[in-house]
Amino acid sequence: MKLLHIDSSILAANSVSRRLTRQIVAQWRAGHPGTVVDYLDLALNSPSHLSADSLGFRLPASGAALSEVQQRENAVSEALVSQFLAADVIVVGAPLYNFSIPSQLKAWIDRVAQAGRTFTYTDKGPKGLASGKTVIVASTRGGVYSTSEGGRAMEHQESYLQTVFGFFGITDLRFVRAEGVAMGEAPKARALAAAELEIKALLVRPANEPTVALVA
Ligand SMILES: Cc1cc2nc3c(=O)[nH]c(=O)nc-3n(C[C@H](O)[C@H](O)[C@H](O)COP(=O)(O)O)c2cc1C
Repeated sequence: MKLLHIDSSILAANSVSRRLTRQIVAQWRAGHPGTVVDYLDLALNSPSHLSADSLGFRLPASGAALSEVQQRENAVSEALVSQFLAADVIVVGAPLYNFSIPSQLKAWIDRVAQAGRTFTYTDKGPKGLASGKTVIVASTRGGVYSTSEGGRAMEHQESYLQTVFGFFGITDLRFVRAEGVAMGEAPKARALAAAELEIKALLVRPANEPTVALVA
């Protein structure tokens, strides 16, 4: 089994999502000995925003020679989409920044959202091509959004990831959530304890179980 561990927090050692992804990966490995882990730190090594030079995979082949920059950018996108497609399990640290995900994580999604690789359009509409994977998202938030309709409408982090991974064909998407971590020491400790309990529960479910569930 191959596991791809992705972090995107910019808070380095103070990051809550990095702490949770480490625990999730350790827990997964304990339950699945022999799992091979690949690591991607998007805060240290993020692809650039999509640009005219990196849009190659979205354009029909023109036959025109590619510039050196375009070739380099295409190679970055190809490496990222291949790495994603090779993984059976993907663990993603996804903090809530300004009501959405870090732009580094969005830049990664923009590179792996490739027609013919992760999705395609059919006469019946879009079809995901990356099915059969388990995605576990460590979602961290300074405030609390999950307990009210107003809060849920304001966050474009979990809801966005649900949409985009669903679009790629992923049906086993699990969230481990620690929210309210900026609301004081006691709420933070409670949020972490709840998330850690949920991480323990993750192993109870086998990989690629075809349900979408919120576990925290
Ligand atoms: C740039 C930035 C923007 C943030 N925006 C929000 C926000 O919109 N809503 C919120 O509840 N918390 C916000 N926070 C707090 C983070 O969600 C919280 O610190 C969380 O722990 C981030 O995960 P991390 O520690 O893994 O980086 C923000 C933090 C940063 C650094």
